[in-house]
Amino acid sequence: MHLFDKETYINRRQKLKSEIKDGLLLFIGNEEASFNYPANTYAFRQDSNFLYFFGLDLYNLVGVIDVDADKDYIFGNDVDIDDIIWMGPQPSIKDMSAKVGISNSDTLTNLETLLSDAIKEGRKIHFLPPYRGEHKLQLSGLLGMKPCSVKDYVSLELIRGVVKIREIKEEVEIAEIEKAVDIAYEMHTTSMRMAAKPGRVEREIAGTIEGISLAMGGPVSFPIILSVHGETLHNHHHDNTIELGQMMVTDGGAETTMHYASDITRTVPVGGKFNDRQKAVYQSVLDANVKAIEAIKPGIEYREIHFLAAKVLVEGLIKAGIMKGDVQAAVDAEAHTLFMPHGLGHQMGLDVHDMEGLGEDNVGYNEKTVRSKNFGTAYLRLGKELKPGFVLTVEPGCYFIPALIDKWKAENKHSDFINYDVVETYKDFGGIRIEDDILVTETGYRVLGKPIPKTIEEVEAVMANPL
Ligand code: GLY
Ligand code: MN
Ligand code: MN
Repeated sequence: MHLFDKETYINRRQKLKSEIKDGLLLFIGNEEASFNYPANTYAFRQDSNFLYFFGLDLYNLVGVIDVDADKDYIFGNDVDIDDIIWMGPQPSIKDMSAKVGISNSDTLTNLETLLSDAIKEGRKIHFLPPYRGEHKLQLSGLLGMKPCSVKDYVSLELIRGVVKIREIKEEVEIAEIEKAVDIAYEMHTTSMRMAAKPGRVEREIAGTIEGISLAMGGPVSFPIILSVHGETLHNHHHDNTIELGQMMVTDGGAETTMHYASDITRTVPVGGKFNDRQKAVYQSVLDANVKAIEAIKPGIEYREIHFLAAKVLVEGLIKAGIMKGDVQAAVDAEAHTLFMPHGLGHQMGLDVHDMEGLGEDNVGYNEKTVRSKNFGTAYLRLGKELKPGFVLTVEPGCYFIPALIDKWKAENKHSDFINYDVVETYKDFGGIRIEDDILVTETGYRVLGKPIPKTIEEVEAVMANPL
């Protein structure tokens, strides 16, 4: 099991206690999850909040923090001889707990006693939103509410406390994320070199780069998106044969052995050379990516950077004859959302969309910055003011989505800003996205990890050496 030193976990729990007025904080770790029959399980992934505060990367554990008594517990059952036959010898719960600075460990039966006593005494029991059916049932059993009402008892106070702590990355976490980006470097340069050879099927490349992640750290941080139909934003089908004239999007990241994520996108011309049409759109997205990164600093709202990226993209699309009119007016009208109907980015850490399970608005917005309801802009996951220690993605894109183009054209939507006759000729273009992982520093930003080729010249140079 890979762990930081125990002070890291003690310190995190201490900080959390200072954010919560009173009560017990209940963190249910993950169990194994079955795939197609009970004993055939998915790769185990510990819950990220449990990992963050309790570190132990093993199933069937529950962590409790008693805020009033300033006491931390791990509950779990030690393995028996049958388990040892199948799993090999395992450290005791007591020994594992000591590694994360916890001296109170006990059985799961005694967890039930602790909680039923607390309920009788009328103490508050805080827990986070469950995202697995098993957890809803477990919470229902432990706390005596119907599974369908569990969500009504989630603690907003605990959510806010966890977000406040987890969103400021520690040095040890930043080092892990940089490792994850370095794995992504290998994944993406391999993908580029493989895309230099038209005629292969996408899955050959997707499978190869997933293997790189597994070989260098952990599993991929989310299912790989790799497609010559990048206009479908989360396209997990890998059945297309790649052909000259197509752009291929690869959106992929790795988890390290400590489960920190990277999330990188690169888009390349199949065959290795951009044609003029591809160059113009690619350069517009690249300029949006670079200018957005350069604008990152503490105190600025990420929503502002999202609209800055939109402006740079529109400037490029006007130059290419795809859009027209005044840049600022086009962005104010949100005409760019035909081409970029998603947000500029999100926070990243132990989860690739960090803490998204705690509610996107609780993570990306606050009382000062409220989420837009407008088409496209509503998908911006991070809108609020940036702070030093945030790690986030910058991922502008430009997509030609035939169904959306047809819809807007039929409605004559934003025809002051969109040259529909020209856009018609781009319906076979696909999409482009360029995504990097950035740390907000005290004075500005730092692009994390080994720089992954992204200028036209850099991409063509990598692809000149096909695999
Ligand atoms: N990997 C999905 C995203 O970029 O957010
Ligand atoms: Mn991505
Ligand atoms: Mn992303």
